[in-house]
Amino acid sequence: MEDRKAKMVAATSIITLVIFIIVARISLKLSPTFFLICGAGVAVILAVFVWLVIRHQYNFRRRLLESKHASEGRELRVEYSFLRKVAGVPTKFRYKELEDATDHFETLVGKGASASVYKGILSDGTQVAVKKLDVEERGEREFKSEVAAIASLQHINLVRLLGYCCVPAGPRFLVYDFIPNGSLDLWIFSQKGRPIRRGGCLPWESRYRVAVDVAKALSYLHQDCRSRILHLDVKPENILLDENYRAIVADFGLSKLMGKDESRVMTTIRGTRGYLAPEWLLEHGISEKTDVYSYGMVLFEMIGGRRNVSFVEKGKANDKSHRKREYFPQIVIEKMREGKLMEVVDQRLIESGGIDEREAKRLVHIGLWCIQERARLRPTMSHVVEMLDGRTPVEEPPDTQMVVVDFSAMDEEAANGNRKPKIGGAALATQIGSNDASTSTWSYENAMSMITPR
Ligand SMILES: Nc1ncnc2c1ncn2[C@@H]1O[C@H](COP(=O)(O)OP(=O)(O)OP(=O)(O)O)[C@@H](O)[C@H]1O
Ligand SMILES: [Mg+2]
Repeated sequence: MEDRKAKMVAATSIITLVIFIIVARISLKLSPTFFLICGAGVAVILAVFVWLVIRHQYNFRRRLLESKHASEGRELRVEYSFLRKVAGVPTKFRYKELEDATDHFETLVGKGASASVYKGILSDGTQVAVKKLDVEERGEREFKSEVAAIASLQHINLVRLLGYCCVPAGPRFLVYDFIPNGSLDLWIFSQKGRPIRRGGCLPWESRYRVAVDVAKALSYLHQDCRSRILHLDVKPENILLDENYRAIVADFGLSKLMGKDESRVMTTIRGTRGYLAPEWLLEHGISEKTDVYSYGMVLFEMIGGRRNVSFVEKGKANDKSHRKREYFPQIVIEKMREGKLMEVVDQRLIESGGIDEREAKRLVHIGLWCIQERARLRPTMSHVVEMLDGRTPVEEPPDTQMVVVDFSAMDEEAANGNRKPKIGGAALATQIGSNDASTSTWSYENAMSMITPR
């Protein structure tokens, strides 16, 4: 625009000068004054031409440089975003971007105790799961734990954090790769009597592979990262299945970082009933063996296709006093002693065939090692991987006292109005071999109030 204006001014001044010279020629004839005016006029016209040429050259070069910088900037941006992606550095998203990606949080794919997860598609076509955490203190704490634990982790069996978003005084968001087949619970537990959701019956081969995948992910967290990472919420709902039914461990909301030289850390009881190791319930400090215990519990649920703690109606329906509690690992031990191990395997798998009995026995034995109440007896996750791969033989597991069976019975008693536990914290601590049993500050109410019911 400015360029056009300058050209107009130049053209007008040249035309004016030419007209002025013609008028001077007519009125002054060929007098010395005319030649003076003519000379000055031609000089000004030449100067205007030179000025126009220089200006044109200058503008041309400036435009060239600008377009060069723009393309360099674009390349740099692409390179930078590529580097962020490969280095696993999470991106900070704007709320509007997440709103657009999820179509105003239209498709809910999962809901946990502290968050809702929505499906979305980013502007570059990447499918994502957007986890919306509540504003409350717990949501904020889980947001920080989750980012701290997983931001820089890269493992094929761990969910990848792509980015985050913080709305001032509003909810927090975490953006993950979308894992298409949802969580493991949908694929191992019978969906009978529940509203139809995704899922089905995962074949034996895939279940075994899931066991290996989860073991590898936990072994990486415990041993191969700079600081040891405890997941602390290993359960089927937090294990996702990708398009090939390979396991991806998710939900690091309760995770804790632990120095490599620390043997255990103290933390308040959180997590989910049924998967918590006794030492955590007793507030005696937790370690990577706490994850091993939960992993063992998940193994049993995969083998049986049922929850470890369940209630069966004995007598009148809906009469709580006639409900009998069943503890699946206890049933497995009894069946194993009777040499009828296959009776505990998910009946749907038995009917469809294809179960490797040796693998089933191996999985049960590993599960029993993992749920030993004395943490030091439990194997490390890398040892579990070796046993699953068949690189290390699985020894006969020792008899476990199953103190937790009595312990979980308290849950049922509480539900029936009797809030006094059958077994006190000190008694339980003595049975699992803890040294500081007498000084235990453990209380049933305290423990239970901090755990998420399943
Ligand atoms: N990346 C993902 N891709 C697909 N589905 C997902 C993804 N992340 C989570 N989900 C779904 O959302 C559910 C809840 O997610 P998540 O476990 O992270 O929430 P939470 O509130 O922390 O759960 P918890 O109750 O264990 O504390 C999962 O069980 C799963 O079904
Ligand atoms: Mg969860």
